[in-house]
Amino acid sequence: MQSFILQLTEDGSHTFFLPEMDEHYHSTHGAIQESNHVFLNAGLFASPLDRWQIFEVGFGTGLNALLTALAATKQQRVCDYMAVELFPLSLEDALCLNYPELLGDTSLFQKLHEAPWNERVKINDYFYLHKIHADFTEMKLSENQFSVIYFDAFAPNKQENMWQVGLFDILFRSLKNEGILVTYSAKGAVRRMMQQVGFHVERLLGPPGKQEMLRGRKSFV
Ligand SMILES: C[S@@+](CC[C@H](N)C(=O)[O-])C[C@H]1O[C@@H](n2cnc3c(N)ncnc32)[C@H](O)[C@@H]1O
Repeated sequence: MQSFILQLTEDGSHTFFLPEMDEHYHSTHGAIQESNHVFLNAGLFASPLDRWQIFEVGFGTGLNALLTALAATKQQRVCDYMAVELFPLSLEDALCLNYPELLGDTSLFQKLHEAPWNERVKINDYFYLHKIHADFTEMKLSENQFSVIYFDAFAPNKQENMWQVGLFDILFRSLKNEGILVTYSAKGAVRRMMQQVGFHVERLLGPPGKQEMLRGRKSFV
């Protein structure tokens, strides 16, 4: 991928900026704040399913994975976390990020980044990580396996090929009944694609700096 620059966001947490793409990994209004709002609070903690089986599109800095691992460990709930990433960060770059110090984490973040790719790894008694080094747009996913999907690709106007109806269809099928997909995007075109493949879509209050976000539920009664 391109070169990137470490930046502070408004809640004091870091993100990376990609100058050539003119795109950030997270909201400049607060990276940790955005991840907590969109993926943990509206996603993980809103799931009606007992088992935490997560799929993330875009592992990136590992921030969503770290917040989820911390929640699983605190609540003593076993979590299986699969994430796809085409352009993994180096360990050196990842360790520049200030998430561990802000979140009071002593070892999890480094373990997430040191975990080998393309195998399921036990991080601790509650968190299992399976990072897949691949192109999401060419991925096949088994059906009925996830309870929550964190859709965290770069914005639709920056990386349109990640936001296609065929890919939302694969994600929909990969969810269990009552599974949910959350994304920070609130674009009408994204909402319509999600509805087209079968999601019941809600527009929720967005994180600071964004009016809305989307949550889709797979629900067969
Ligand atoms: C918005 S960032 C993700 C932020 C990440 N979830 C985090 O917590 O830091 C989007 C991510 O998608 C990755 N990506 C871009 N194209 C991809 C592709 N075709 N397949 C898989 N990942 C891709 C980027 O490298 C980047 O890490």
